[in-house]
Amino acid sequence: MDVNRRQFLTYLGAGTAALASMATGIPALAAGGNLSGKTADHLFGLENQKHNFNLKFKAIHPTTQDDVVLPEGFKYDVVASYGDKINAAGDTFGFNNDFTCFLPIDGKADHGLLWVNHEYLGELEHYVTGYDFLNADPENNTRTPDQIKKYLYALGGSVIEIKKENGKWKLISDSKYGRRVSGLTKHALTGPAASIAKEVTGTFANCSGGVTLWHTVLSCEENFIDVVGDCKLPDETHYGWVIEVDPFDPKSTPKKHTALGRFCHENTAMVLAPTGQLVVYMGDDAKDQYVYKYVSKGKFDPKAGKSNSKLLEEGTLYVANFGKGKWIALDYATNEALQKATNSDGEPLFTSQADVLVNCREASKAVAATPMDRPEDLEVHPIDGSVFIALTNNDKHGNFYGQIVRLFEKDNNHAGGEFTFEIFAAGGPQSGFAAPDNMAFDSAGNLWVVTDISSSSMNSGIYKSFGNNGVFFIPTTGNSKGMAAQFASAPVGAEMTGPWFTPDEKTLFLSVQHPGENLKGYDQPTSHWPKGGSSVALPSVIAITGF
Ligand code: FEO
Ligand code: CA
Ligand code: CA
Repeated sequence: MDVNRRQFLTYLGAGTAALASMATGIPALAAGGNLSGKTADHLFGLENQKHNFNLKFKAIHPTTQDDVVLPEGFKYDVVASYGDKINAAGDTFGFNNDFTCFLPIDGKADHGLLWVNHEYLGELEHYVTGYDFLNADPENNTRTPDQIKKYLYALGGSVIEIKKENGKWKLISDSKYGRRVSGLTKHALTGPAASIAKEVTGTFANCSGGVTLWHTVLSCEENFIDVVGDCKLPDETHYGWVIEVDPFDPKSTPKKHTALGRFCHENTAMVLAPTGQLVVYMGDDAKDQYVYKYVSKGKFDPKAGKSNSKLLEEGTLYVANFGKGKWIALDYATNEALQKATNSDGEPLFTSQADVLVNCREASKAVAATPMDRPEDLEVHPIDGSVFIALTNNDKHGNFYGQIVRLFEKDNNHAGGEFTFEIFAAGGPQSGFAAPDNMAFDSAGNLWVVTDISSSSMNSGIYKSFGNNGVFFIPTTGNSKGMAAQFASAPVGAEMTGPWFTPDEKTLFLSVQHPGENLKGYDQPTSHWPKGGSSVALPSVIAITGF
């Protein structure tokens, strides 16, 4: 498919639009003191900048209500819930939906495919497999083969076809596009570590993700270790990768791109560097893990359509050193620290680039990258190209509320080796939000942030003032720059994930993940969302309208 600049803006919405800003000739931004004040403020004043996003809402207050609470004038439709039929063959929507990504059909903003990640089961597993997780002995895994099959089928991702009719979003339950990519689906491997296996069965722990410039989806395998253990799988090196799926081709084989490294991947943010190279920003969401970027060897060719996927097979993976403001290449051939790294027995840690990619955490440590406070989403500002990083928290560093970092690449070159950064917004009672996780930009460059206070800490102790998890709106320029206004509140025990706007910015999709988590017993549910009464809570994707 031919991709041009205008299509990026209208088709992809937020996330990859930095490409567009550079192609319009907006000047590269010099790094220096008081960075965001000089960059974004200046750019927002550009006369030709057309913002179609004119937000007016009255911020809501934190609440513990068991519902999705929105400002006056907004409403939500439940688009898909766990167990819903998604195609004529009878495949069903997976559990604990996370990342969402809307891909229009024929350029329409009210009809398209929604890719949705399904991350994990956790204590709610009982509702999927029947396994009594709450009372099970963690040392004695008694899951049956049938329970394991159900477990793996419930994770991965779904392609669903959705349509807005009479103002309401609906799932098309017999769609020809409807597809499950699950823990049971065969995947191909690409890149320098492809030799670890001929093919791999399954994807799971799919947390967040991103879209490519050629309209396929990247989905990130995050906490795969738990699933490998629960499902008694033989080889954990098959997981912890970024996968690519083409939602428009239901028969296509998903790919695991090993060049992007193996760790607990949160998401991907793809952008084009001024050099024409593709850059993918990524975080490893664990305490004291790292921020990465991948830079393709070759250049993006808009005419090449889906064959640009090859760019994800050959390139350089970098890890960030924040103390020095430098990107370090995790390249075995040129990095002496990787060649000389040894284990406690004095044996080499790595003997090839494949070793480095399979063991990114060890490689990053060996090159003295900066351990961070749980890097979750990275997103590229659609106007000035700065890179926002959500650091959720890290109790080991006394960082309980998290913060959002704004990184400025030197000369705004995303393929370059140097950067500066600032703290854009800090979580805490003073700002009203805590534990920032997924982020999305609207076309005016406002940041939308969802929070992930763990269900075991929510509404108690130092997190009491925040109420349930929420969605926050944070301008990135002007007088309110960095100030958070709460836009939505999640049901009891839930986390909102996967914010994604339609290209016309009339709808915001969100996942409501793990409602009812932090249970005392399966006969005492804490949430009955979305069906109410005495129903069991169902993870569901919602569409918010009223913008
Ligand atoms: Fe799955 Fe990092 O949240
Ligand atoms: Ca997440
Ligand atoms: Ca999270």
